[in-house]
Amino acid sequence: MELCVALDLPTQKENLELIEKIKSENVWLKVGLRAYIRDGEEFLIEIKKINPNFKIFLDLKLYDIPNTMADAAESIMGLGVDMFNIHASAGKRAMKEVMDRISKYESKPLVLAVTALTSFSEDEFQEVYNENIASKADKFAKDANEAGLNGVVCSAFESASIKNITSSSFMTLTPGIRPFGEDAGDQKRVADIKLAKNENVDFIVVGRPIYKNENPLKVVQKILTQI
Ligand code: C5P
Repeated sequence: MELCVALDLPTQKENLELIEKIKSENVWLKVGLRAYIRDGEEFLIEIKKINPNFKIFLDLKLYDIPNTMADAAESIMGLGVDMFNIHASAGKRAMKEVMDRISKYESKPLVLAVTALTSFSEDEFQEVYNENIASKADKFAKDANEAGLNGVVCSAFESASIKNITSSSFMTLTPGIRPFGEDAGDQKRVADIKLAKNENVDFIVVGRPIYKNENPLKVVQKILTQI
């Protein structure tokens, strides 16, 4: 299991200060919508200047018509990131088109599909998808696997079931992790490291429990020790 640190701070300066503090550690960095919209490719270059070995997960959750998603995925190829994601609810055809379009590139990032956002409660999810989270997440994962993606973003609670219906090598990345019982914030389905390990999760994403702590390095090291 690997740790992916969410860079969700309000300014680029604060994100870079956080990265500087944890630069000795073997972790992935997650660049999300706020940071990428505000700081763009320049931010990715700054990260690599601090430590070129950092792996970058570009968390933009693409969701559009198939051709537009494939165009965007092709633009992502030029950024040199190691992983990016798209929404499974965009449909199997869109996911396939993305994979087809990037198939010609020699060095390809991992591509994951978002199943159910971890901020959804069961009721909220029902309202949008008219189905329960677990069964819909399984179906999304099956589609993503058949479309040739490398894995899915899901909650830790769905990971083992998803691997069962796809394959053990189909990756799961799980946000909503509160390693040591920290405040859940807006996340509804939170899990700790032990649960994530039992569910055979490949990547845990941790944001607030790290960057809101006064000693982020200590939290990162504590998580890595537990992993
Ligand atoms: O601060 P916290 O640990 O809750 O951060 C979780 C991160 O994972 C945020 O950047 C959020 O956007 C992202 N994420 C999520 N649920 C998903 C996909 C991504 O919480 N399904």
